[in-house]
Parts: sequence; C-alpha cells; structure tokens
Amino acid sequence: MSLRLGDIAPDFTQDSTEGRLSFYDWAGDSWVVLFSHPKDYTPVCTTELGLVAKLKPEFEKRGVKVIGLSVDPADSHAGWAKDIEETQGQKLNFPLIADADRKVADLYGMIHPNANDTLTVRSVFVIDPNRKVRLTLTYPAATGRNFDELLRVIDSLQMTDKHKVATPGNWKQGDDVIIVPSVTNEQAKDLFPGGWTEHKPYLRTTKQPA
Ligand code: BEZ
Repeated sequence: MSLRLGDIAPDFTQDSTEGRLSFYDWAGDSWVVLFSHPKDYTPVCTTELGLVAKLKPEFEKRGVKVIGLSVDPADSHAGWAKDIEETQGQKLNFPLIADADRKVADLYGMIHPNANDTLTVRSVFVIDPNRKVRLTLTYPAATGRNFDELLRVIDSLQMTDKHKVATPGNWKQGDDVIIVPSVTNEQAKDLFPGGWTEHKPYLRTTKQPA
C-alpha cells in the first residue's frame, strides 16, 4: 500500500553510496527529501541528480537532507556517480540508496507495476522531523522533476507549520499569504497586527509573516 500524507515514513537499513545506512539515524532531526529514480546510467536521472547536488545548499538552508534511490546496486551507483560529475559538473554530494532487493521501494510504494513492474517510478517524499510524510509526488520516467517546486513547497510547509496561514496557488517567497479560515477576525488582530485584506469573509490575505 502506498504512503499517504500524515503517515509515518517507515525506517529501513539499506546499502548506499555512503555505506550501510539506517534511515532514521541518518535523518536525525532534519526534514528529508527522499526521491527515487528509475535506473542508473539513464539520461533524465543523470540531470536530476546533478541538479539536486547543485541545489544541496538550498535544501540545507531549510534544514533538509536529500537522499536518492534506485533499485541498482552500490557498485553501479559508484560508477554512474563519475558520469554525473563529468556531465553535470557537480559531484554527487548526498547518498544514493542501492535498493537492489527493492526493500525500500516496496515499503514506500515506489514501484507501480502498471507503469513498470521492475523499476522505481520518480517518487518524491517530503518527510518532517517527526517522520511524518508531508508531501508525495509521482512523476513518469520520461519527465524530469522540478526541484525548485520542491523548495517552494518546503518553504510553504515550514511557514504554515509556524503561522496560521496558507499559501495561494503559485505562491513564492515574499508574496502575500492567506489567513486560515479557522482564525476569527478578532484573533487575526493579534496575530496579524499589520492588518489584512478581506476579499471575502473566507479569503483574507496578509503580508508573509517574518
Ligand atoms: C531517464 O532517466 O532518462 C529514463 C529512465 C527510464 C525511462 C526513461 C528515461
């Protein structure tokens, strides 16, 4: 069964490019982006991994650790990592799980048999420090993911965890946000002293909280 939002992300121990790895120990109290790709030595995956390696400082700024996975063994990952560095101009700087026995892929529902019965699809799980799954995405093999969108969602998750706000469609850092409907106008006066705009009683926007 696939993981749903709010579920606890299962722990596992598996081989990786950084040796045997126990997921919870490795994650510590960070947020995690766990993402699978179909296969080593494939073009789209090569670009994705180079991109995530380049974006690692952006993930770190947000307290997020990144970790990749495919059902290829560790020696295959190691050889391919050299190609990633050569073609993407960026060394792999995060672990790639070598899930040759599909233990993690099965646990997280990363194999979709009607798409491909042996390879992992492009799954993404954003997991918070309480191990809760906060976002899932599934992309097809031929479509590389937009990792800027992942950073955007993480920004929204982290802010909406802290403040009684939600983010509108296409929101990005610095844009106005929405006051959640459960907050009364009386409460909003304390929470948002800078004021808000009431477009409708259920749609009130305010400046992004600091
Ligand atoms: C790729 O990463 O390029 C890829 C992987 C599996 C199927 C199609 C493309």
